[in-house]
Amino acid sequence: MSAIGASDDTIYLDHAATTPVDPDVLAVMLPYFSERYGNPSSIYRLGQEAHAALDQARGSIAEILGCSPAELVFTSGATESDNLALAGVAWQRQSSAGLNDAPPHIVTTAIEHHAVLHAAQLLERRGFAVTFVLPDADGVVSADAVAAAIRPETCLVSVMYANNETGAIQPVAEIGAIARERGIPFHIDAVQAAGFLPLRVDQIGADLLSLTAHKFYGPKGVGLLFVRRGTPIEYQQRGGGQEDGRRGGTENVPGIVGMAAALEKAAWLREAYSAHCAGLRDRLLDGLREAIPDLIVNGPLGPERRLPNNLNVAIPGVQGETALLSLDMEGVAASAGSACTTGNSEPSHVLRAMGLPEELCRASLRFTVGRDNTMNEIDETIDIVSDVAARIRGLAGVA
Ligand SMILES: Cc1ncc(COP(=O)(O)O)c(C=O)c1O
Repeated sequence: MSAIGASDDTIYLDHAATTPVDPDVLAVMLPYFSERYGNPSSIYRLGQEAHAALDQARGSIAEILGCSPAELVFTSGATESDNLALAGVAWQRQSSAGLNDAPPHIVTTAIEHHAVLHAAQLLERRGFAVTFVLPDADGVVSADAVAAAIRPETCLVSVMYANNETGAIQPVAEIGAIARERGIPFHIDAVQAAGFLPLRVDQIGADLLSLTAHKFYGPKGVGLLFVRRGTPIEYQQRGGGQEDGRRGGTENVPGIVGMAAALEKAAWLREAYSAHCAGLRDRLLDGLREAIPDLIVNGPLGPERRLPNNLNVAIPGVQGETALLSLDMEGVAASAGSACTTGNSEPSHVLRAMGLPEELCRASLRFTVGRDNTMNEIDETIDIVSDVAARIRGLAGVA
């Protein structure tokens, strides 16, 4: 794969947290920082050039998602998209509810990213009702469990496409069919699936879908929300009428242009990227299992059930955070949970929801491989992780 890795010797195995910007993507972005700096709302040529770039980006993303360009709202990333999807649909439903109606109800899951989870919890504190559906022991939420949680007053179902910690792929198409049958809008946080799984909104049954560019070799701070035409939603951000009045604020032109280029490349490389990652990930798993026989894999096994770049393991007796610091000193960057919870020593809400005992949650490490990783790096990582685990266990007096 193309050489776009970190400039130092770091073995970067945290691609679920973020990816480097692809050089081809950077090249198409650069002019929009300098000579093509116009504001897309300005009517003179410089502004219209920027406007045309937005139109082109919107068109190319729409083609990949199989939607109309007018159904895309550009945002500052998936956190904003997720918040908009949940709050926008909930508030819209509330404003059209009668005085004696039950509070609008949202069905989501206990394994969502905090962008969905915390948005749902805020709505709960504001008087909305929310059901957080639990996953099975593999971290997969069943369509039946989602169906059972639906009530007459349910106004939204929100389920992620693939989990950011375990890579567990959720049955979104099945859930989408259930939601459609009952006339309930269905939101998919597709952040981690981009680059690996099909994103055509009709195929996966999405009425709303969130993406963020920096997970597929695009820039940080830019994302989108697909909103199917006719979905009842109250837009949240007032301002200068950009995005057809749906999201005020001068558009991040270089970011949006970059997101479109990154998504095009991700779509084009999807099969090769998936195969490359699966090969690396499987080698990492085999090597670690051989070196650490009591290692436990968190999340499902099998190519249909887990993202090809994700490996989440618990090493009994080895604190994940301690291991991460040692790995960092040895030049390996990994994660002990989702990046957004780093610095927070609460055990992962995802692993807990799967029923993992607290000590194993705390002993868990996530490795997510990417385009630039090589087999040599993986072999080196196997040795480093085994040594680090043995050292920590030795210090703790664990055999
Ligand atoms: C599943 C999922 N949803 C949402 C987000 C939020 O994305 P951003 O931080 O780019 O807004 C992330 C980021 O880690 C994620 O993994």
